[in-house]
Amino acid sequence: MLRKIQEREYDAIEDWETLIFLYRSALREIETKIMILNDEFQQTHRYNPIEHVKARLKTPESIVKKLRANGHESTIANMVRYVNDIAGIRITCSFTSDIYQLADMIAKRTDLKVLNLKDYIQHPKESGYQSYHMIVAVPIFLSDSVVDTKVEIQIRTIAQDFWASLEHKIAYKFEGNAPSYISRELKECARIVEKLDEKMLSLNNAIVKAKALQDQNA
Ligand code: GTP
Ligand code: MG
Repeated sequence: MLRKIQEREYDAIEDWETLIFLYRSALREIETKIMILNDEFQQTHRYNPIEHVKARLKTPESIVKKLRANGHESTIANMVRYVNDIAGIRITCSFTSDIYQLADMIAKRTDLKVLNLKDYIQHPKESGYQSYHMIVAVPIFLSDSVVDTKVEIQIRTIAQDFWASLEHKIAYKFEGNAPSYISRELKECARIVEKLDEKMLSLNNAIVKAKALQDQNA
């Protein structure tokens, strides 16, 4: 059903400006939904799972570069079909448990559809990269139609984000051909990030428990 709607509507998207308008709208919609989830969480649990949210639209240059790298012509139809991260949102959390809680809350929403999930926390990439990725479709209500528009959501801890931004800089600087000792060190850092995230989570759990006990005895 989703595919049918998508293809019919997408066929009707003729120009670049309409496309960008749709993705920009989708980004706004999803950002608002995520902020509301955060507020709701704060309301019920007195706790903010989200530290930071960053939304961005992919530049035309990188869209074309990605299509070319994957052997596709630069057409609007190919952009819609093959580039899942034209609209991207990155959420950073303190703890890995926050990531799964948020992902669960997003997946349960009836106002968007999850098209794809990648858990690079349970299954880190060869590079050491860790993050939780979701591709969702957000319905954009136009005056005469509804268009499901894809948004890539990346959810990470602060430590995973720190690692990813350094790795990205290195990959960019060396154009993917970093000296092997640097890649090795990066993988080592990824293991340290994993350990740190585990330790911070168990420490936080211990704090919550100790505080509850203290309050009980007060
Ligand atoms: P692209 O990698 O975007 O072509 O798509 P894909 O289908 O391989 O999706 P994947 O989920 O692997 O990656 C999507 C995005 O995650 C990338 O555009 C990056 O923002 C981020 N990402 C994936 N792998 C890495 C990595 O090894 N290092 C860093 N820094 N970021 C990564
Ligand atoms: Mg990739």
